[in-house]
Amino acid sequence: MACNRFHPFVIPKTILLYESLLMILCVTLNPVVDTTLFVEKIQPVYRTNAQRVTHVAGGKGNNVARASRALGQSARVMLPLGGITGYHVAELLGGEGIETTVVRISSDTRVAVTVVDKHYEQRAFFAPNSAFTPDDVEEVRLRYTEALEGVDAVCVCGSSPGPSADVLFYDLLHDASERGLPNLLDTYGEALRLGLAAPPTIVKANLIEASGVLGYSPNTLDAQLVAVDELRQGGAQMAVLTLGADGAVFAAGERAWLARPPQVAVVNPIGSGDAMTAGLMTGLLRRDPPETCFRLGMASAVANSLTWEACRLNPTDVESLLDRVEITLLR
Ligand SMILES: Nc1ncnc2c1ncn2[C@@H]1O[C@H](COP(=O)(O)OP(=O)(O)OP(=O)(O)O)[C@@H](O)[C@H]1O
Ligand SMILES: [Mg+2]
Repeated sequence: MACNRFHPFVIPKTILLYESLLMILCVTLNPVVDTTLFVEKIQPVYRTNAQRVTHVAGGKGNNVARASRALGQSARVMLPLGGITGYHVAELLGGEGIETTVVRISSDTRVAVTVVDKHYEQRAFFAPNSAFTPDDVEEVRLRYTEALEGVDAVCVCGSSPGPSADVLFYDLLHDASERGLPNLLDTYGEALRLGLAAPPTIVKANLIEASGVLGYSPNTLDAQLVAVDELRQGGAQMAVLTLGADGAVFAAGERAWLARPPQVAVVNPIGSGDAMTAGLMTGLLRRDPPETCFRLGMASAVANSLTWEACRLNPTDVESLLDRVEITLLR
């Protein structure tokens, strides 16, 4: 099995200029063993030999934990795992030194295989989700109480494994809010619709995810301003609508901002939304004003796009991108 190297970045003092490490609990309800085969060329033939293979504990919450650690926070992950593939994910997380609360579930953790060529052109194949039984849902609720011990913020990220788990997106965030813990929701479909009513402190969605719950695609800036307000109708304090290479629109209270990323040499933008989550949460925990949280979120998101591996942020990149993100106050 290929090893899963984690580069020990040097964290610049400016990012670490706060008293002590604060702990973010990052929940992923639909994790995956992410196997990547690196090939010379992707071809429509029966067999292609790969030069290299990597296995990563995949899932949006795991990505947020990686990025949060790079930004100087402490992070714990919580995730349901089952079968041999579940053990594999737990091993991989342990290898990275990520504190993990495992919820044992009845079905095998899913796998995904990505094939990537030397130009970073990629094709991904996903196994079906590991749907939850009613017992699995109860087990998540039980272990969540334990996982919350000592945490300062919570994010619930990624897809739902199936309809039986959708309600958890509401329950986990509602519980966090009741305990006074700042929290963030990043999902789509029915899980997003339910989770919005928790309500989360911050909701983050890309254009496709937002369209799914809003019933229209907010393609103009005017529509995007309406969208960030509509996403907050359930009571969320802040909303971020991400626009890929076009940046993001962010609303907090009556205010709203548009951010554009600087021109950069993009290697792989996958996971940029998760890096944005880590930046926003870090800002929130530092009690930064909303615009500063947004700037750190953007700089982290753009920094993610500079490297192949999702959310292995280089803090020096984040630091140097902070001033290069262009932010405009819209209202
Ligand atoms: N090609 C790019 N160039 C520069 N910045 C990018 C690019 N793609 C994404 N970003 C940055 O990352 C942020 C989030 O991107 P995006 O809208 O793709 O999120 P996402 O779909 O949630 O991503 P993921 O789910 O893979 O983490 C954007 O707001 C932008 O700041
Ligand atoms: Mg995303």
